[in-house]
Amino acid sequence: MKTRSNSAHETRPADRLAVIVLAAGKGTRLPGAGPKVLVECLGRPLLEHVRRAVVGLSPDETVVLTGFGREVVQPWVVAHWPGAHVVVQEPQNGTGHAVRVALAAIPRFVGDVLVVCGDVPQLEDADLRVLLAAHRRTRADATVLSGVATDPRHLGRLVRDPATGRLARIVEARDASEEVLAIREFNTGIYAFGAAALRRAVADLPRANAQGEEYLTDAIGALVLTGGRVEVERAADGSALLGVNTPTDLAAAVTALRRRIVGRHLAAGVLVVDPDTTVIEPDVEIAAGARILPFTYLGHGCRIGPECTVGPFAHLRGGTVLERGAQVGNFVEVKASTLAAGAKAKHLTYLGDASVGEKANIGCGTITANYDGKQKHRTTIGAGAQIGSGTVLVAPVTVGAGARTGANAVVTARHDVPPGVTVVGVPAWAPAKAS
Ligand code: UD1
Ligand code: CA
Repeated sequence: MKTRSNSAHETRPADRLAVIVLAAGKGTRLPGAGPKVLVECLGRPLLEHVRRAVVGLSPDETVVLTGFGREVVQPWVVAHWPGAHVVVQEPQNGTGHAVRVALAAIPRFVGDVLVVCGDVPQLEDADLRVLLAAHRRTRADATVLSGVATDPRHLGRLVRDPATGRLARIVEARDASEEVLAIREFNTGIYAFGAAALRRAVADLPRANAQGEEYLTDAIGALVLTGGRVEVERAADGSALLGVNTPTDLAAAVTALRRRIVGRHLAAGVLVVDPDTTVIEPDVEIAAGARILPFTYLGHGCRIGPECTVGPFAHLRGGTVLERGAQVGNFVEVKASTLAAGAKAKHLTYLGDASVGEKANIGCGTITANYDGKQKHRTTIGAGAQIGSGTVLVAPVTVGAGARTGANAVVTARHDVPPGVTVVGVPAWAPAKAS
C-alpha cells in the first residue's frame, strides 16, 4: 500500500476516509417525537440530511451509531444507507464511548476519520470537505470544527492557551466556570482525526464530569497534553452547524434550510414572489422562469416546468410533475400527479394519483376520489378535457380526450367517459345529443 509520512505522530495512507455518525443519544428535549435523528425537518428526517452530506464525500467506511430507539433507527439506516455499518452503542456512555465503539467496527481502518452528529440538518458535504482539507493540509492529529455565537448556551467552549492562542481543551457548558461560559467560540461536535491518534485518545477517557460520561471532547484535551497536533477550523457560519435539541432548535433549522433552498431557486432564475411564505422541500426541480406565488408548499421530488405558475396557496405534495405552462392555483392540493403542458387546475381542487392531459381544464372544486378506504386508485384525464365545477371523479376512472363533465357531476368508478362525450348528473350519464 502506498503511504506518505504525515507528521511525527502518524503515518497514514493518502486519502482513506471513514465517517462516524453519532446517532445513539436520546434527545430528551424533543418530547414525544421518537428517536431524535428520525424527527422530520423540512420533509426529511434529521439523519437523512446528514446522510446526504456524508455520502457526498464517498467515504471508504461509514459507521452509524445507534442506541436509543434503535429498533426504528437501525432499520432506517439499513434501508436508506447502503454500505454503512450500523453499530449499537449500549449503554450510551457519552460521545467518547460512542466513538470507541464505532472504531471497534472498523478495526483495520487507517486514514482520516470524520466524526459528525446525526442531528445537524444544515450540514452539507462542502462543510465536511473544508474541514477535511484543512485537516489534511496541516497534517493534524485532530481538527475541531468550531463556530462563533454571541451565546453558545449549552455547547462546549473552546479554551485556548492565552500565550499561543492554540486550543488547549474543550469544556462542556455543564462543567464550565463563568469565565469559560463567556467564551463565544464553541465546539460544533464535528471533527477530523487521524485514525491512530483517535484510537489512542479514546482508549481511556475520564468520567469525572457533570454527566459521568466519556466525552469525546476530553480526547481532544488528551491529544493536546500528549503533544499531538490539534487544530481548529472555524466554520464560516457556525450557526448552521448547531445540533437540534429542542422544538425551538428544530423550527430554527427548518427556517434556515427553507431560506437556503428558496435562495438557491431564486439564484437559478425561479420567480419565487415571496420567499418568506414559500416552503420548498429539498429535491424539488423548478425551471427558470416558473412563478411560485405566496403561501405555496412544494414537497420533495416535485418537478415544475418552464412557464408554470403555482399558487398562491397551493400545496404540491411529493412527486408532482407540472409540465410546461401548467397552472395550479388557489387552495389546490396535488399528490403524485402529472399535469401535462398547459393543463390548469386553478381553484379549490384535489388531484391525487391523477394524470391530466395537455391543456385540460380542471374546474373549480373538482375532486379525484382516489381512496376507497383500502386502496388508492388512478384517475386519467385526457388532453383538452373540460372538467366542470364541483365534479367528483371516483377512481379508477378515465375521462377521454376532449370529453366534458357538467357542474357537480359524479363520475363513478370504472364508468369511463369516452373521448369527446359530455356527461352530467349523479351518477354521471351522457344525454343523447340533439340532432
Ligand atoms: C456535544 C459536545 C459539545 C458540542 C455539542 C455540539 C461532547 C461531550 N460534547 O454536546 O462539546 O458543543 O455536542 O452539538 O461531545 N451521542 C451518542 N452516544 C452517546 C451520547 C451522544 O451517539 O452516548 C450522540 C447524540 O445522539 C448526538 C451527539 O452524539 O448526535 C452529541 O451528543 P449530545 O448528548 O447531544 O452532546 P451535547 O451535550 O450536545
Ligand atoms: Ca447535541
